[in-house]
Amino acid sequence: MKIVLENLTKVFPQGKHTPAVTAVDHFNFEIPDGKLVALLGPSGCGKSTTLNMICGLETPTEGKIFFGDEDITNVPVENRDVGMVFQSYALYPHLTVKQNIMFPLENKKGKEKLGKQVIEEKAMKAAKLVQIDSLMDRKPSALSGGQQQRVAIARALVKQPKVLLLDEPLSNLDARLRLSTREEIRRIQQETGVTTVFVTHDQEEAMSISDLMVVMKDGVLQQMDKPQEIYDNPVNLFVAKFLGTPAINVLHGKIENGKLVIGKNVIFNVDLPDQNVSVGIRPEGLLVDENGPFVCSLQKIEKLGRDTSVICTHEGMQMDHMRIVVPSETKIENSDTIRFSLKPHKLYLFDESENRIALEEDA
Ligand SMILES: Nc1ncnc2c1ncn2[C@@H]1O[C@H](COP(=O)(O)OP(=O)(O)OP(=O)(O)O)[C@@H](O)[C@H]1O
Ligand SMILES: [Mg+2]
Repeated sequence: MKIVLENLTKVFPQGKHTPAVTAVDHFNFEIPDGKLVALLGPSGCGKSTTLNMICGLETPTEGKIFFGDEDITNVPVENRDVGMVFQSYALYPHLTVKQNIMFPLENKKGKEKLGKQVIEEKAMKAAKLVQIDSLMDRKPSALSGGQQQRVAIARALVKQPKVLLLDEPLSNLDARLRLSTREEIRRIQQETGVTTVFVTHDQEEAMSISDLMVVMKDGVLQQMDKPQEIYDNPVNLFVAKFLGTPAINVLHGKIENGKLVIGKNVIFNVDLPDQNVSVGIRPEGLLVDENGPFVCSLQKIEKLGRDTSVICTHEGMQMDHMRIVVPSETKIENSDTIRFSLKPHKLYLFDESENRIALEEDA
């Protein structure tokens, strides 16, 4: 089921003590049938609001939502055939785990009505998927946050919805379970082909799980594309900074007489008019090179097994220090300065409004 958002907008009106908030600002995008799309952005950027509108719990201020060709903007929640995992789990406290999972199936009416045994089997299958089948008789209050979260996932999956909406579904799981549940969600999604929107503020999670990623900031869509494409070609400084661990290194630079200059270093020739720029360099974008043009003060070397982190400073940097990742076999002289050459495709220039400036090789 393809999902189309057309000028989708949500303004929360002014309250007694709060100003009006535009939580989602004219979203236009299409989620192709059977794909998993991650909505990614910092806290408060409008991810949950977007999901709640797709689900039908929030009414848009403006714009439309289509499932396939059908305009469902005014269709009530219960008729949308969506499975949703809320950020706050929202389990029924008076029901057991098993009853919680069975609930969406018991609500089916008419010819869709299922027998008790089928319902129990489906519930058990969903519970097994997320490894909570041994907790079926407990009440939510007797579960940890991570266990409650998994019950919520099972409940969303059990009725095999047309659209699956997941709002930070892994936030309360420990690192290992988070990873395995993430893989499980991806597997189930691919097996069933259910169109899925997955909300997270964790860029690594978004990149690893999604077919397409939507990066948002302050209710405004910044970029939508394949995860690797966004990482390789961020449209602005915000997106460049939001993706990647360690984060991208950002420096003050300028274009002077057709050359990119960072601090005292002339980096390379560029065919651009004179201007101030921000320079983003991915941690993997620098090569230790005794003749390289980029000269840093060496602070610390962290051997991390597979690779080595070089912590250094540079007079142009916009942060406290720079982190550069090099292969562990790289030979590094123990001295005060360290020189690098740069991989041009790992370096981005941004103008004063923080939008990406196209370099020649981008064309
Ligand atoms: N019911 C509401 N009334 C007024 N403002 C709201 C309401 N719900 C959300 N907001 C505001 O809308 C903006 C977007 O909120 P939303 O919950 O969609 O963010 P989010 O991206 O899901 O954040 P998080 O990662 O913290 O869950 C925020 O500024 C929030 O304060
Ligand atoms: Mg949220």
